[in-house]
Amino acid sequence: MADYEDGTPTSTSYQDVREHLLQQQYRWVITGVAGFIGSNLLQALLELGQRVVGVDNFLTGYRHNLEQVRDAVGQDAWHRFELVEGDIRDAATCNRACDGADFVLHQAALGSVIRSLREPLLCNDINIGGHLNVLEAARLAGVRRVVYAASSASYGDHPALPKQEAHIGKALSPYALTKCVNELYADLYARCYGVETIGLRYFNVFGPRQDPSGAYAAVIPQWIAAMMGRRRLVINGDGESSRDFCYVANVVQANLLAAMVERKDAVNQVYNVALNKRTSLNELYLMLHGLLVERYPHLRDYQPDYGEFRAGDVRHSQADISKAKGLLGYSPTHDLQRGLRQALRWYVQYLER
Ligand SMILES: NC(=O)c1ccc[n+]([C@@H]2O[C@H](COP(=O)([O-])OP(=O)(O)OC[C@H]3O[C@@H](n4cnc5c(N)ncnc54)[C@H](O)[C@@H]3O)[C@@H](O)[C@H]2O)c1
Repeated sequence: MADYEDGTPTSTSYQDVREHLLQQQYRWVITGVAGFIGSNLLQALLELGQRVVGVDNFLTGYRHNLEQVRDAVGQDAWHRFELVEGDIRDAATCNRACDGADFVLHQAALGSVIRSLREPLLCNDINIGGHLNVLEAARLAGVRRVVYAASSASYGDHPALPKQEAHIGKALSPYALTKCVNELYADLYARCYGVETIGLRYFNVFGPRQDPSGAYAAVIPQWIAAMMGRRRLVINGDGESSRDFCYVANVVQANLLAAMVERKDAVNQVYNVALNKRTSLNELYLMLHGLLVERYPHLRDYQPDYGEFRAGDVRHSQADISKAKGLLGYSPTHDLQRGLRQALRWYVQYLER
């Protein structure tokens, strides 16, 4: 069992990082800024007085996500944001965005396992070619650090639970493979070129602005939208598959800590980002249904259906987060229940409109 909580003080806590950022302005690049996680990072950074250059080609992101951030932070803060509308597969776009940047938070990717099984070439081009362009642009611009979105999908078929960073199995989808290659490239850039990188292996992230529509929607927004619209909701398999669902505020925290951490042994590493809690799909359904019935009593008699297991899915997933706790000072603020309540507030507003 790896032990990262060895008594060495982490250089900083999240509160310290936030206070530092309120005093000191940096220039950040967020790729995938119009997406779910990217737009939440944008909002957090603008609220902390930072300057942000965002890159997006709106493949799966939305202008209305950016408009919501603008409305939340106000015009003054919004003036500290610049959008580079473009594709990370284009090196010039990445170079333009990274010019003069201090930190890069690289989120842009084709993020769906199912879509990657249908469109492996597109997934490869964006997730590997695009990632390499971002690393290269960061190297040329001499940025301080690149923090990038890795994934729990990298654990593939490795059976151990909870998942520890050092033990990964065989990839179960093109998406998973691209995320493994991202880590290899980041490590290479650190060793060959001295580019500082940190990979954050997100588990199942959820929260405001996660897209509830379309064939590739994630389970939580998809189920909320289905229940609110009294449409059919299908639980894949027997519902006993489990995930470590992680509210997006915890992911924002991990990104800012990773960008700012000073201890040398924390850099050029990958970290799990979740809660170290496992929730089955059946349990998740009951929680969500219960929260929705509080608002919409007429949903009391709503019943889910059960369907096939989904290709490329792992049976159980749970993060060991001791490495992120020990080296980054990561301390999740939102458990599942609290996160679901906050997310639901947003979905109710968004979907009722
Ligand atoms: N949401 C999760 O549960 C989860 C879990 C593990 C890892 N991740 C990773 O986190 C990152 C963000 O995911 P998300 O959930 O916010 O997805 P998202 O689809 O909402 O956001 C991705 C953004 O990247 C943009 N994008 C895609 N291809 C692009 C390209 N070629 N050039 C420029 N922009 C491009 C999209 O338009 C979108 O705005 C991804 O790298 C994803 O693989 C997410």
